[in-house]
Amino acid sequence: MSEDPEVMAYLLAFASREAIAAWVQRQQAHFAQNGFGFWALESRETGEFMGATGLLHIRYDAHFTPAVEVGWRLARRFWGQGYVPEAARSALQFGFENLGLSEIVANTVEANHNSRRVMEKLGMVRDAADDFDHPLVPADSPLRRQMLYRLTRESCQV
Ligand SMILES: CC(C)(COP(=O)(O)OP(=O)(O)OC[C@H]1O[C@@H](n2cnc3c(N)ncnc32)[C@H](O)[C@@H]1OP(=O)(O)O)[C@@H](O)C(=O)NCCC(=O)NCCS
Repeated sequence: MSEDPEVMAYLLAFASREAIAAWVQRQQAHFAQNGFGFWALESRETGEFMGATGLLHIRYDAHFTPAVEVGWRLARRFWGQGYVPEAARSALQFGFENLGLSEIVANTVEANHNSRRVMEKLGMVRDAADDFDHPLVPADSPLRRQMLYRLTRESCQV
């Protein structure tokens, strides 16, 4: 999934298989430290791995941090069937009800319409005043400028 250029079009590409393995290890460490993270998504019918969706503590400084973000990544053949909105609703519910968070955020680039569509389906709201330059993205990258979407516990309808 993370080697598919279509899936990674709006994400920073991994330099190698080792870099992907390091990402997985970071997710496991996040679970060990916090009790939550990016959950793997599996097909109920076949048990096949489909992707990942979950909650993460943001690991960089920005005007909206400290914050917890909801994020997702789905293998191409599963797109367009509402799987990520379904998974993200469970993640948001967990964040608000089990973790007691008051707000959860998400971010992406303007061109990532599919991901922004998911944020809108979840009731997340973007304010242009929250747009920011991602500190972990190189300054000359088209992925540097990001939109921020927010969802408060009070406005969460999931
Ligand atoms: C963003 C993503 C997770 C969406 O997951 P999903 O389960 O397909 O979500 P949905 O089924 O609700 O579809 C969302 C939108 O994708 C688009 N879409 C639907 N089917 C599609 C398909 N077969 N091919 C391309 N785009 C499609 C539509 O615009 C859809 O909105 P709509 O339901 O109003 O028509 C998935 O596209 C993905 O993994 N993208 C690559 C990784 C990524 O960008 N992650 C987020 C980084 S911020």
